[in-house]
Amino acid sequence: MERLRMAVFATGNGSNFQALVDAIQEGQLHATMELLVCDRPTAKVVERAEQAGVDTFLFHPKQYANREAYEMEILKQLEEKQIDLVVLAGYMRIITETLVTPYYGRLINIHPSLLPAFPGKDAIQQALDYGTKVTGVTVHFVDGGMDTGPIIAQRAVAIDEGVQVDDVTQSVQRIERELYPQVVQWFCEGRIQLIDRIVHINHS
Ligand code: GAR
Repeated sequence: MERLRMAVFATGNGSNFQALVDAIQEGQLHATMELLVCDRPTAKVVERAEQAGVDTFLFHPKQYANREAYEMEILKQLEEKQIDLVVLAGYMRIITETLVTPYYGRLINIHPSLLPAFPGKDAIQQALDYGTKVTGVTVHFVDGGMDTGPIIAQRAVAIDEGVQVDDVTQSVQRIERELYPQVVQWFCEGRIQLIDRIVHINHS
């Protein structure tokens, strides 16, 4: 079986990027990490890519006329590297049809809430402020909306009395580091089918 060629888009720390790289190295993920796409030169994820020997496409959004211009450049990079699956992991920018249309069904995101609750920024803080007793993690396909695409997998995290945002963030990120490599491996094994907006996972 051919290995799936991945690109990760990230803006910050890159713990999800690291989890994917580690899962490949440990033989749990039948994929290759071909490219990191990053919009912030000082991000920790850039260092992680360097250490892992992964090519990085680093861009400065302000140096482009508009979003379409830099997304066209990203698309060129993805096509040159024949990327099969685009994985957003803490990429803090909106993605538009320039990338969504050619990659629909092969473009996924991880979000720190049980969508459709609490889309957008600061999702963990939003859940705490709202007073929900459970939050969690969602992996979903990316469509044109803000965290609105078809849901692939979700895991719940309890919000116990008195916990702080940092505690919940730690629990959420622990689950993310397990769930994301698992979902990508389902892609590698051809287990994921998208029909309209319903995602079917073949566990047989
Ligand atoms: C992750 O918790 C991810 O779910 C979140 O950013 C964090 C990135 O962490 N993404 C979003 O909030 C997207 N709306 P990482 O850089 O350590 O992987």
